[in-house]
Amino acid sequence: MTIPFEILRTPAAMRARSEDLRRDGKKIAVVPTMGALHEGHLTLLRAARAQADIVILTIFVNPTQFGPQEDLAKYPRDEAGDLALAKTCGIDLAYCPTVDAMYPAGAQTFIEVRELQQPMCGASRPGHFAGVATVVAKLFHATLPHIAVFGEKDFQQLAILRRMTRDLDFGIEIVGVPIVRESDGVALSSRNAYLKPDERVAARALSAGLAAAEAKFKAGERTAEALIAAARAPLEAEALARIDYVELRDATELTPLTTLARPAVLAIAAFVGTTRLIDNRVLS
Ligand code: PAJ
Repeated sequence: MTIPFEILRTPAAMRARSEDLRRDGKKIAVVPTMGALHEGHLTLLRAARAQADIVILTIFVNPTQFGPQEDLAKYPRDEAGDLALAKTCGIDLAYCPTVDAMYPAGAQTFIEVRELQQPMCGASRPGHFAGVATVVAKLFHATLPHIAVFGEKDFQQLAILRRMTRDLDFGIEIVGVPIVRESDGVALSSRNAYLKPDERVAARALSAGLAAAEAKFKAGERTAEALIAAARAPLEAEALARIDYVELRDATELTPLTTLARPAVLAIAAFVGTTRLIDNRVLS
């Protein structure tokens, strides 16, 4: 039996709705997003649909995960368009809270996943992952899911949210979905919308670097130095790109590796023009 589609706007209203659904024995999956939905988000929604009775999409452009110089003000917002797209994947409910409902005046409590938040994107975006962990914890408390679905595109975010869920006894199954790419290899991202046509072409250097490194890995290369060099080369050759980091790290602990003896993630962050893009590939 399907339930009537509804948009919930406050934590209390959302939680009351989820409490009712749980009382009725429904299995709830949540897909947290900041909107500007693309095929990557829709793939998460389909994965959620396949595993639960009720799929809740959340859309909230979370101010606490943006740095002062970042793109909070210009982040693309189109709730009506997003909901129309999401409905093609069969969502049941949408949770689209306002900033005031999420962060009442005087809010000052944050969740920090102390070690995993430090390296990689955490190094260039101080406070970002505390904002992410805190908002996702709040989304969990409001939606009361059995399952939560996230993309491997944001690999460090996924590792952090898995750890938070375990450490704080949320009792929620975290599902990771592989990266969805355009036909030229570029990972789908809401931020691709910022790219000018020549930058969009230049953005191929991220996935091209990862593909080159993976080819070396498949040919037997196991040293971090050589794999990282292979991944950096296309970015260094691209005038419109500037590398933030290219790193090989343990896939769970995110500790740096010098040789690849266990599952690892090769992760890139680079500016293309003024737009910061990330991409990664698991090597195991
Ligand atoms: P957002 O960038 O909107 O991404 C929402 C979810 O979509 C994340 O789990 C992200 O990893 C996934 N995603 C984005 N692009 C993808 C792609 N090309 N392939 C597969 N999955 C992809 O990530 C956030 O929002 C926020 O930090 C959030 C978790 C919602 C907290 O505010």
